[in-house]
Amino acid sequence: MKENININLKNAGSFISHEEVLALAQQSVRHLGSLDAGTGAGNDFLGWLSLHEDVVKQLDKIEKTAKHLRSVSNTTVVIGIGGSYLGAKAVVEALSHSFSHLLKSKHHDILFAGQNICEDYMSDLLEILDGRDYSVIVISKSGTTTEPAIAFRIIKDHLERKVGKVHAADRIIAITDGTKGALKMLADINGYETFVIPDNIGGRYSVLTPVGLLPIAVSGLDIRSLVKGAHSIADVTRKNKDASTNPALIYAAARNLLLQTGRSVEILTGFTPKLHFFSEWWKQLYGESEGKEGKGIFPASVDFTTDLHSMGQYIQDGQRILFETIISIRNPGKKMTIPQEKEDADQLNYLAGKRLSEVNHSAETGTILAHNDGNVPVIRIDVPELDEFYMGQLIYFFELACAVSGYILDVNPFDQPGVEAYKKNMFALLNKPGFEEAGKKLRERLN
Ligand code: PA5
Repeated sequence: MKENININLKNAGSFISHEEVLALAQQSVRHLGSLDAGTGAGNDFLGWLSLHEDVVKQLDKIEKTAKHLRSVSNTTVVIGIGGSYLGAKAVVEALSHSFSHLLKSKHHDILFAGQNICEDYMSDLLEILDGRDYSVIVISKSGTTTEPAIAFRIIKDHLERKVGKVHAADRIIAITDGTKGALKMLADINGYETFVIPDNIGGRYSVLTPVGLLPIAVSGLDIRSLVKGAHSIADVTRKNKDASTNPALIYAAARNLLLQTGRSVEILTGFTPKLHFFSEWWKQLYGESEGKEGKGIFPASVDFTTDLHSMGQYIQDGQRILFETIISIRNPGKKMTIPQEKEDADQLNYLAGKRLSEVNHSAETGTILAHNDGNVPVIRIDVPELDEFYMGQLIYFFELACAVSGYILDVNPFDQPGVEAYKKNMFALLNKPGFEEAGKKLRERLN
C-alpha cells in the first residue's frame, strides 16, 4: 500500500503553536460535519466531495473516448477557462515529459485554447493546427462563457474547413451542462459526443469529472490511479474526525491562524517547474473560494529554485505579510548525477557523483531555514513522488482543506460573485444586446 501525503508544520512552529493549530483543527471537525450533512453555505455545490466514488462508473466511457481521439488525431485542443481548464493543465504539465512537444516518439500533444482572448495566441495556434491532425474537447459548464465560446467558434470553423463537417463532428467532444446553454445546443445540433458536468459541482472543484479526466486520459495518463489517489486521501481527511491525524484540517487551521498573525499572502511553491500549473490551479481554488466580503488569504505562487533568483529577495526581506506552503517531492522520477571533471575549473567536483535531487533537496532545506530566519513561516506538504496517485491525493486534499478553510473564514467557498463584474463591463463596451444602457454609462466614464 502506498503511503499518504503528509503535512509538516515544524517550520511554522515559532509563529503558531502546535496546541493552537490542534485546537482550531479540532473545532473545525464541525465543518466536516456541515459538508457531510450539506448544511453549510453553498451546500448545493458539494458533488465533488464523493466524486472519486461517483466518477468510477464513467471511467470506461472516458477512456474509450480518449482512445478514439488518440486514434484519429495526434493533437487535441482543449478549449476552456478557469475551472474548465486549470485542473487538466495542472496534471498534464506535472506528469508529462518536460519537453513532450519536442519528443520524436509517437506522442499525442495537448494544446489549450479559450483561456484568453489574445489575437496573437489564437493566430499562432491556428498556424500550428494547419499542420496537425487534431481533435477538440470543448469544456464550459455554463456553455456561455465568452472566451471559450469565441475560441470554439474559430477552431470549429478551422477544423470543418480542414476535414469537413462530418469528420469534424467525429473529433469534437463537448463537456457541458446536461440540458442548457449554447454549447449544449451546439452539441445537439451537430451530434457531438458529450459528457455532462453535474449541477452540484463548481468549475474549480471539477478536475475529477470528465472536465479534467478526459483531457488527462487523452494525454496518455492513468486516470484510474488519479481517482484512486483521491479516494485514498478522502479516507484520512473527509472521514477522519481526529484532527491530529487529519492533514486537511491541520492545513486549514494553520493557514487561518497565520492569517490572524498578519500573514495575508500565502505563496505555494515547489522545487520543480512541473508544479507550475498545479500552483495556478491551487490559486484559482483558494482565490475564488475565499476572496470575498473583504476577506481571504491572497494566494500567490513561485517556482523554486528558479524564482529564488527573482522573488527570493522579497520573500527573504520584504514586507512581512507572507507565509509559504512548500510541496516537497521526495523522489524524482528519473536519475541524473553530476559528472567528475579532471581540471575542476568550475570547482564543482565537491558535487561530483551526487544526484541533482540531492542538491535540490539541500536547496529546499536551506531555503526553508533562510526564510524562517527572515520571519517567514513555512508549511511543508510532503509528497513521496510525482505520479497520478499523488496528484489525485493533492487535488482532493487541497479541495477539502479549501472548503473547511472557507468555513473557518465564514465565507461561502463555492460561489464566485466577483467574477461577473468584468464580464458585464466587457459586454457593455462591446454593445452586447441588452447591455446598451450600461455601455453608454461606461463610455461617459471613459471621456
Ligand atoms: O470556478 C469557476 O466556476 C470558474 O472559474 C469557471 O470554471 C470558469 O469561469 C469557466 O466557466 P464555464 O465552465 O461555465 O465556461
